[in-house]
Amino acid sequence: MKTLKLILATTIVALTAASCGNNKQEAPKVLVLYYSQTGNTEAVAQEIATRLGADIEAIEATEPYDGDFQATIERCMKEREEGVLPAIQPVNADLSQYDIIFIGYPVWFGTYAPPVTTFLGQVDLSGKKIVPFCTFGSGGLESSVADLKAAQPNAEILPGYGVRAARMEAMPKEVEKFLIAGGFLEGEYTPLPDFPEQHEVSDDEAAIFDAAVDGYPMLHAQAKCVATRALPNGTEYLFTAEDLPREDKPDMPPAGELQVYVTVADGAAPVFTRVVR
Ligand SMILES: Cc1cc2nc3c(=O)[nH]c(=O)nc-3n(C[C@H](O)[C@H](O)[C@H](O)COP(=O)(O)O)c2cc1C
Repeated sequence: MKTLKLILATTIVALTAASCGNNKQEAPKVLVLYYSQTGNTEAVAQEIATRLGADIEAIEATEPYDGDFQATIERCMKEREEGVLPAIQPVNADLSQYDIIFIGYPVWFGTYAPPVTTFLGQVDLSGKKIVPFCTFGSGGLESSVADLKAAQPNAEILPGYGVRAARMEAMPKEVEKFLIAGGFLEGEYTPLPDFPEQHEVSDDEAAIFDAAVDGYPMLHAQAKCVATRALPNGTEYLFTAEDLPREDKPDMPPAGELQVYVTVADGAAPVFTRVVR
């Protein structure tokens, strides 16, 4: 009898919810969670949260990574060698209350920064829609998203957004487009055409590649093949390049083949937007 009463009560609740749903659909609840050491990822997080009117919270390391770049690298290397992850402050948000969680991080060593690894090890995001976003020196969205999928195999990982630290001025407009493309914001969105098949680079195209990567110390590569597509305000190039041995860093072996995205906006100098390793 008790079981029957429970089934009836559950059915009534379900039916009421379904009929209410016909009249008024509840907006999904969105949380923006992020870790940021030097402010770039925080700026993206704030842009997303402001545009969506979403709740926002920072993931904080209990013992912050507050050293300079070299000190941070050294601490990370030591932690890796010792197999330890940094402790983090408890996240205040009740994750069960959210349908969509944007998770943001700087790329460190090709993946999300360690405080995010700690966080992902503490929570079960099964059934949630997760939207990754990141900032990086040269790239790491694809590799970090692969790690995120492995860490939370039962979450639905949606397409992510990544931006170079050197291109933060382009971020607000890109975030707006990204949110419209993902269906989170209303607005006009025209998808870009696919890249056609690549061909061997011409001298002019090789010069565009060299100009785009010039001055970026971590990218020492030679363009081999390329494909182009039109942007509303210029051209985008997708180069396949070969990482070259570095005389100044003999302990850093070449990384093999790289995919490098380069944008040439009308009248502007070429810039690379991301590297896929
Ligand atoms: C320890 C460390 C490792 C990094 N590793 C990478 C990397 O593997 N690839 C990359 O493109 N950028 C790398 N970066 C650059 C950061 O991802 C970039 O500066 C980022 O925008 C910092 O974000 P934040 O300001 O939110 O902390 C690294 C930076 C640090 C401090």
